[in-house]
Amino acid sequence: MKSILFVCLGNICRSPIAEGVARKLIEEGGHSISVDSAGTGNWHVGEAPCKHSVTVAQNHDVDISHLRARQVKKTDFSAFDLIVALDQSNYHDLKALGCQNLVKLGDYGHSGADVPDPYFFDGFEGFDHVYTMIESCVKELLNR
Ligand code: 4NP
Repeated sequence: MKSILFVCLGNICRSPIAEGVARKLIEEGGHSISVDSAGTGNWHVGEAPCKHSVTVAQNHDVDISHLRARQVKKTDFSAFDLIVALDQSNYHDLKALGCQNLVKLGDYGHSGADVPDPYFFDGFEGFDHVYTMIESCVKELLNR
């Protein structure tokens, strides 16, 4: 596998964390895999990741502050070897757009569970759990 695209809803909370974690693990592991992230929605296109995602990633030595949100496009489905949805709703939306090379991040060690959407969380609480789950799944994904 040479390229992975992580997709959530807004591309400002969860998938930027997944992209940052994957990039760090890939560097550390000496793999040659390119990674990117996108959202199924277009509300936040051009925006930096949400502040709590930037903070939780920074707490783990992962800098995602430079990332900018973009919307997924159909050409991504052939441009990337694997498309990884962060939750079932993202998975469903991507399937409806015709994506075939599609998995859920939670398939990697978490029985297919959704990565919870922290957008409506109250403050920072919950972001640690989101980070830990994403990191665990991405590790498993890169080790397969
Ligand atoms: P994400 O979180 O999908 O993890 O980036 C969200 C960001 C924005 C919205 C929903 C979820 N929104 O409704 O604008």
